[in-house]
Amino acid sequence: MDSKHDTITPYQTAEAKKQQVAQMFDNIAFRYDFLNSLLSLGIHKGWRRKCVKLIAADHPKRILDVATGTADFAIECAKLKPEQIIGIDISEGMMQFGREKLKKLKLDSLITLQSGDAETVSFPDNTFDAIVVGFGVRNFENLEKGLANMLRVLKPGGTLCVLEFSYPRKFPVKQFYHFYFSYVTPVIGKIFSKDNRAYTYLPESVKAFPDNERFTAILEKLGYKKATFKPLSLGIAAIYTARK
Ligand SMILES: C[S@@+](CC[C@H](N)C(=O)[O-])C[C@H]1O[C@@H](n2cnc3c(N)ncnc32)[C@H](O)[C@@H]1O
Repeated sequence: MDSKHDTITPYQTAEAKKQQVAQMFDNIAFRYDFLNSLLSLGIHKGWRRKCVKLIAADHPKRILDVATGTADFAIECAKLKPEQIIGIDISEGMMQFGREKLKKLKLDSLITLQSGDAETVSFPDNTFDAIVVGFGVRNFENLEKGLANMLRVLKPGGTLCVLEFSYPRKFPVKQFYHFYFSYVTPVIGKIFSKDNRAYTYLPESVKAFPDNERFTAILEKLGYKKATFKPLSLGIAAIYTARK
């Protein structure tokens, strides 16, 4: 695995990455949805919609939304009319905002949010027809452990769908994105979230993340089948799908 990915942490303290990540999302939870929409000009919603369309043909009955945060991906998955959606996250603060949204949308009986770590969560083997993860895997402390545990709880034939930022590689998108992401995003993020590091950690972690073919290679190595990726919006994000 890309070792750089392990060493990029939110607060660069001696605490484990997991604690720092949970703390950071607890801190910014009150502004998370607002900043997502502001910084991406609303594009992030369309990305989740695309993911859900990709898994629609499988008609998944039980869906796990890993790193659910404020539950946007789980809410989008409700369109598939499954029997059950479970969202897990290590940040209770993020899920509190998610639960409020579920109540307002009357989706709280379909979608349950519970505290859980992708790397250790102990659902039985072969539980879910589909697993989705939106902007979560980049934040895992141990990427391979998280992905392997998700493979364990996925049913044979089930689909994993990962949505994650990636770094565009072509001129001039790469240069423009670098400027926006490394200089504009941290300033706006800091003003609104009041967290000094969260929106600086964001571009740092994206840069260090093994994206595109490097990520599909990790999935294949762990035993996922048919791992593939689809770049989105000129390469600033990607959808990865794979099967068990
Ligand atoms: C950028 S947010 C994404 C939230 C949501 N999925 C979305 O699409 O907007 C990343 C989330 O990953 C969670 N997270 C990070 N590591 C995790 C882990 N090991 N297990 C579960 N959740 C994790 C964080 O607490 C945070 O809520």
